[in-house]
Amino acid sequence: MRILVTGGAGFIGANFVSFLLSTGAERVVVLDALTYAGNLGNLAPVRADPRYRFVKGSILDRDLVEALLEEEGLDAVANLAAESHVDRSIRGPETFVETNVTGTLRLLEAVRAVLARRDAAARSRFRYLQVSTDEVFGSLAPADPKFRETTPYAPNSPYAASKAGADHLVRAWHETYGLPTLISNCSNNYGPYQFPEKLIPLMIHNALAGKPLPVYGDGRQVRDWLHVSDHCAALAAILARGVPGQSYAVGGNSERTNIDVVVAICDLLDRHRPRNAGSYRDQIAFVADRPGHDRRYAIDAQKIARDLGWRPSRDFAHGLEETVLWYLDHGDWVRDVTSGAYRDWVAEHYT
Ligand code: NAD
Ligand code: TYD
Repeated sequence: MRILVTGGAGFIGANFVSFLLSTGAERVVVLDALTYAGNLGNLAPVRADPRYRFVKGSILDRDLVEALLEEEGLDAVANLAAESHVDRSIRGPETFVETNVTGTLRLLEAVRAVLARRDAAARSRFRYLQVSTDEVFGSLAPADPKFRETTPYAPNSPYAASKAGADHLVRAWHETYGLPTLISNCSNNYGPYQFPEKLIPLMIHNALAGKPLPVYGDGRQVRDWLHVSDHCAALAAILARGVPGQSYAVGGNSERTNIDVVVAICDLLDRHRPRNAGSYRDQIAFVADRPGHDRRYAIDAQKIARDLGWRPSRDFAHGLEETVLWYLDHGDWVRDVTSGAYRDWVAEHYT
């Protein structure tokens, strides 16, 4: 596979680039705008690999994307470039529409133009994978069946709406122009290199800094956690064996309430980096709820298991412990990414 990974300097993108190179990809070109969430340090493990190339640029730049697809002879695109944080989308929705919707449009148009110049065999080999989220399906009540590929879209946050809009474009480009597209709708990821604005790394970071652990509302919201390495394996399976025009729901079968996750992090830190006195649980602070906060996400991943043979392999308790240990071992990385811009966001959002 010769693949363009957009957003490859972000959390999932960087893990996916390492995964692709370690599983035999021929060429991996990363296109990333290096927003606050993108960090070249995330790609340090692959920097010396001759099969890897980094290009700083935006998915909004259709000419650049076209040029890269041509000059590198690429036969796949995985689009992971996005604005990805719900709270930021509530504060400033416009960049979410620009990056997530218009950016996807430009990518699709670049792929369409390039494929028009390729022969039938090359066109049928090509794959465009849109890395989407389960948040496009909205919110579940406690007894509702889990999300599946056939669940109607009902996004509630500006982030989810922008991802839903992008998915609709991808679908339409398949139906109208015959683009060989695939969509994955994945649940919440955790693991190394996740930016400390998302629940798990934020809680670890704040706990170690002696700050409050801000739990929104009653903390009883439920997320279905998947280790990022399992997500990467799912994306590779979808690229290799997915049927163009189809979407695949990807999840960890690990539903947990937020408060249970936060307490588990506190207990792991109590074991591995004990405070001088008391428990990290003492730092838990219930704060105002997120507007439009989705109550529960859960994924029924039977289709990808049945059709592509993918199943999550990492148990959440074990994966969470490894993740906590990774953050304890990577204080330098956390210091690097929690720049001035990060501190401004925290000051504005949490006070
Ligand atoms: P992230 O915020 O960590 O990384 C996003 C990356 O995209 C960054 O490197 C950023 O610099 C880059 N980027 C932003 N705008 C760009 C542009 N215009 N052009 C090129 N690059 C740009 O996000 P993530 O958590 O790694 O998520 C990756 C993808 O997976 C997103 O599409 C997200 O919607 C999806 N997803 C994430 C999760 C999750 O739990 N994190 C779950 C399901 C799906
Ligand atoms: P997050 O990691 O932002 O992912 P998403 O909103 O995409 O699911 O949040 C996960 C859950 O944790 C979500 O229900 C919101 C909650 N949360 C808090 O309670 N406090 C926080 O400071 C953050 C960032 C999230």
